Amino acid sequence: MLDVSTPLPRPSVQSFMKSSNPAKTAFKAAKACELHWGRLSVAQFLAQYWQQKPMVLRQFVSPSAVDSSLDNLLAYAARDDIASRLIRCRHKDWTMQEGPFDRLPSIRGKQWTILLQGMDRNHEQAYGLRMSFDFLAHARIDDVMISVAATGGGVGPHLDEYDVFLVQGVGRRRWQWGYQREQSFQPDKPLKLLRQFTPQCEAILEPGDALYLPPRWAHDGLALEPCSTWSVGFRAPSRHEFLQHFLIEAAESLSGPNPRYQDKGVRASKQAGRIPEKLARQLKQWAQDFRSDKRVFEQALGRYLSEPASNAWFEGPRKLPTKHHWLAQALRRGVALHPSSRMVYDSRRTWLNGEDAGPPNDLLRALADQRYVQAAQLKHGFAAMMTIDLSNTPTRNLNVVTKPQDASECKKTVEFQPLIDQLFDWYLQGWIAFCSEKHSQRL
Ligand code: SIN
Ligand code: CO
Repeated sequence: MLDVSTPLPRPSVQSFMKSSNPAKTAFKAAKACELHWGRLSVAQFLAQYWQQKPMVLRQFVSPSAVDSSLDNLLAYAARDDIASRLIRCRHKDWTMQEGPFDRLPSIRGKQWTILLQGMDRNHEQAYGLRMSFDFLAHARIDDVMISVAATGGGVGPHLDEYDVFLVQGVGRRRWQWGYQREQSFQPDKPLKLLRQFTPQCEAILEPGDALYLPPRWAHDGLALEPCSTWSVGFRAPSRHEFLQHFLIEAAESLSGPNPRYQDKGVRASKQAGRIPEKLARQLKQWAQDFRSDKRVFEQALGRYLSEPASNAWFEGPRKLPTKHHWLAQALRRGVALHPSSRMVYDSRRTWLNGEDAGPPNDLLRALADQRYVQAAQLKHGFAAMMTIDLSNTPTRNLNVVTKPQDASECKKTVEFQPLIDQLFDWYLQGWIAFCSEKHSQRL
């Protein structure tokens, strides 16, 4: 995320699922990389820096966690499911082009950079980096944007509306930053460049180092050599954004009495074009008295916070498994959310990808918190739920969840388990997948 230009148009929620764009990612889950806070604890960082002041974090991640080669990253600019922007600066003349790109300038050239958004949904290391920020609610994380720059490349002095961790991947970049009252932008530029920039601090970041910036701090990064920068951007809904979404949901679920305007005894008008005062008063009253139902608000919130990115893409399995074969695999390998899936819950409901997924239980909560559930957790979760659901059936049936190889027994379980049906359905939609073998072994 980087607010350097007008946002890319957002297609409707449904269109991401209908897109004909082929999914190219094969990975199912990635382990979070480790963050190093130096002498600080996470709690100290949150209390003293988060949303307050910038911080340079030397060797914040291992350089090997963000060492994807520049060539590898540049290949993503050709994909039409990745929002990319090419930014060049020649003699203070800035240009910006939107991707996909089938050709790019040479990385040995000068003063250009390409921004690749939503890389956490498409690149295993970027997903691993994003996963390491789970000390904050997933609902606060937006995406990992990766920039690749030739020497002298950058996006110019600007500010972002959101908190950002700028993690240096390959190569070195010089950052300058400061807080300034003057925050106006230069007119007639393809990017939102600050009219004035008076940095107060400067640091050269090496691979693995990071710079944390709270919202609206002015900054400018210059590539000292061909390099990559991985920006973990946060999501902070604005009042307007949320109300736009909420009011549509509220309009769709209006309930209660529906009186109609009446004007018995009205006097003849000499100004037929004028809005009658009484009509205006009544409508204003209805608008001011409108209070949405608590449930409508909760639904709107859950849907809003779990809505996937507009260009997120999900693809179900090419070969459809039977439910009991799927269950046997799931119990052997565990399941993980697709990197593009968003899942949240509150005390009453769970939402996945903008859909109400019912009341939360231990398993759904674990899936939303960790973004995967291991095989053992899945077995345990199913067994616990069967104890409730099957309290009137012979306990012999409870054993099936610990014998995943027995497909016919699994089938019996399936018939009793709406949760299994739900997970299977999510699997068919590509919203969850099996944990990769590599992943399940490491956990
Ligand atoms: C940013 O300033 O937010 C990132 C810019 C870059 O990576 O060049
Ligand atoms: Co920025």
